[in-house]
Amino acid sequence: MQLPTMFHPRTVVPDTHLLGAYIPVPGYGVLPVNSFLIRGAQPTLIDTGIAALRDDFMSSLRAVIDPRDIRWIWLTHTDPDHVGNLAAVLAEAPRTRVITTYLGMGKLGLLGLPVDRVYLVKPGQRLEIGDRELFAVQPPTFDAPETTGLFDTRTRTLFSADSFGALMQEPAETAGAIPATALRDGLVTWATVDAPWLEMINEHKLSAALDVVRRLAPDAILSGHLPPADRMTESLLASLAAASRAPRFEGPDQVALEKMMSIAA
Ligand SMILES: [Fe+2]
Ligand SMILES: [Fe+2]
Repeated sequence: MQLPTMFHPRTVVPDTHLLGAYIPVPGYGVLPVNSFLIRGAQPTLIDTGIAALRDDFMSSLRAVIDPRDIRWIWLTHTDPDHVGNLAAVLAEAPRTRVITTYLGMGKLGLLGLPVDRVYLVKPGQRLEIGDRELFAVQPPTFDAPETTGLFDTRTRTLFSADSFGALMQEPAETAGAIPATALRDGLVTWATVDAPWLEMINEHKLSAALDVVRRLAPDAILSGHLPPADRMTESLLASLAAASRAPRFEGPDQVALEKMMSIAA
């Protein structure tokens, strides 16, 4: 895969659509970039994809909902792979409020989002959205301090932002379809890329962060960077624990990159 590619939207847990794309990662394979729509009493879009795929993202979104019906946009954080089409969605969804943290509001303000479009949450708080509650959770790994995942109490699904992402050799329908060793290696590598601070925290603090997920006992984990993972929580937690013992990721320099790309060509 040479270019970012968007796949057709599909339902991955009840009421929940995956708006999934993959981006090429030179030398390492591909990385999923996922947004989700909870099609509940108050439809909630989780993240807004990448700007490079704007037309595909917007037509995928329109295929599953009239954007005017979107009540909330939950931004897990403000990285470009999560806010890439925010302005385009908001232009078609004038009633929508954007859920983020105080720091997220500040960063989004720099992108031009007015304060009155924002609704603030903190990890540990719950948002009642009619037929379910969304419980704000700080995932165990993240690359931006405003990162806030969420747990849907109705479907017992954890939306984990960047956490539990994996570099992959090729796209897959589900995390369970990826061979176990490849999944573990891809998850460990991604975690060391996305959370280079992992090697600096002590084991007890990481265990406590992993226990937060364990106590939630999600049926499914929907990461921004992994195909849907159904009843795989323990193996994903074990891979994250392994990532804290892995060496810090150092990307290739220009010479190494050119060599990797000539081998791949
Ligand atoms: Fe990120
Ligand atoms: Fe991300």
